[in-house]
Amino acid sequence: MTSRPLIIGNWKMHGLRQSRTVIAEMGAALDGAPVRPIICPPATLIAAFASAVAGGSLQIGAQDCHAAAQGAHTGDLSAEMLADAGAVAVILGHSERRLDHNETDAVISEKLKAARRAGLEPILCVGETAAARENGGAETTVRSQLKGALASLAAGPLVVAYEPVWAIGSGMTPTPQEIAAMHAVIAAELAELGHGPTAIIYGGSVKPDNATEIFAADGVDGALVGGASLAADPFLAITRAAIAAAR
Ligand code: PGA
Repeated sequence: MTSRPLIIGNWKMHGLRQSRTVIAEMGAALDGAPVRPIICPPATLIAAFASAVAGGSLQIGAQDCHAAAQGAHTGDLSAEMLADAGAVAVILGHSERRLDHNETDAVISEKLKAARRAGLEPILCVGETAAARENGGAETTVRSQLKGALASLAAGPLVVAYEPVWAIGSGMTPTPQEIAAMHAVIAAELAELGHGPTAIIYGGSVKPDNATEIFAADGVDGALVGGASLAADPFLAITRAAIAAAR
């Protein structure tokens, strides 16, 4: 665990303007804490949330971006627009987007470049399906996702989130040994691709009651949290577990 763990909340398609009270509560509780918290709400809430937490340690991110800076792309948002709204980071390659929107590694690679162009820190998600893990293909899947997304990206700010698809929203998690093993694989592949020391976080059913065990695994620099980031109490409990693990 790094001395300043990265705890990212992914709100997915949840949240209305009234959720500002949740963000205000998180922001007040996290101010000055030795942790780097980022909440990624739906794009409709980025500007309101960014102004609610301005000047504090809680930062706001986005969940996706288009590869182009602007243009005829109805319904899409560019990285520049998200930065303009107050985002500092963007989740890319989440398995739900790979599945729901047929995002390939090549598409994700272009989005990573767009994030960098706009000054957003990219949070690249990788992870194997249940079938891949069962047939021994987990490591190959993750290495090929990293190669496909990062081979043509220059070194620079980057977070990689290891999110086994079968662990997302399921209540199931890999063992700490399995997490540590995959984080080591990711670190090795990143080094081969010339991406230097990069924060590698774990995601998939992180909850207050398993956070301590997950953060104790070797090579875990933080967490990407879905369901448990929607309310202040569980998210803050996870950040406290990360702070304790970093000591
Ligand atoms: P979960 O989601 O914590 O609800 O499993 C994690 C994610 O999809 O980023």
